[in-house]
Amino acid sequence: MRSKIVAGNWKMNKNAAETEALLTELAAKLPDTNAQVMVAPTFVNLAGAVRSLESSVIQVIAQNMHFAESGAYTGEISADMLLSIGVETVILGHSERRAYFKEDDEILAQKVKAALDKNMKVMFCFGEELEDRKSGNHFNVVESQLKNALFSLDASAWSSIILAYEPVWAIGTGETASPEQAQEMHAFIRKTITEAYNATIAGNVSILYGGSVKPANAKEIFGKPDVDGGLIGGASLKADDFVAIIGAI
Ligand code: 13P
Repeated sequence: MRSKIVAGNWKMNKNAAETEALLTELAAKLPDTNAQVMVAPTFVNLAGAVRSLESSVIQVIAQNMHFAESGAYTGEISADMLLSIGVETVILGHSERRAYFKEDDEILAQKVKAALDKNMKVMFCFGEELEDRKSGNHFNVVESQLKNALFSLDASAWSSIILAYEPVWAIGTGETASPEQAQEMHAFIRKTITEAYNATIAGNVSILYGGSVKPANAKEIFGKPDVDGGLIGGASLKADDFVAIIGAI
């Protein structure tokens, strides 16, 4: 059975005091839910976040990591460093990493492997750009992103993978994929995984939708059968909005 998940990707927002304040408010307001709730503050605030949430069910996850074990990679963070402060899940492949930091499928495949080798969980993001959708190429783009970064993995690795479909045109734009568009793509993703592996793996992997999810649209999107939750950007920075989105699942 796959899990329901609502995760907040805070991106490059919130200093230490603001992080602490938002986590305290979130922990206090968290509704009763069967969903797993995760937050991804910035690297410098991760250790503090783990401490603040010690007695909460909210999990702290990282926004990125490097593929090397250690060494001369100025400014980078390794899997061991994350694990050493109690962070066991990492977001990889976010479209902002792909676009601004030139992370391609090959680099992402290395990062995924590095995280899994350390027994971390990976929340793998992918999604098409606006031109891809306009030209009807969105299914091909998504299929190749999945294939290049994930389809060489052993079947057993898939229990450590969470997928997050984030169409680039819907991220931070206020424009959301319609619930039907999300469902159509999520069903396609499951079909693609069934063909590459099998129906059990495809049926067990959680597939989150991300891109301008708000309290006003969350319920309809989460109501679709192949949507298992959301990866939330802007709306995860306000406790009341994030809590409302969690409530919508
Ligand atoms: P927004 O919810 O701000 O559109 O961001 C989505 C996202 O990129 C989450 O990773």
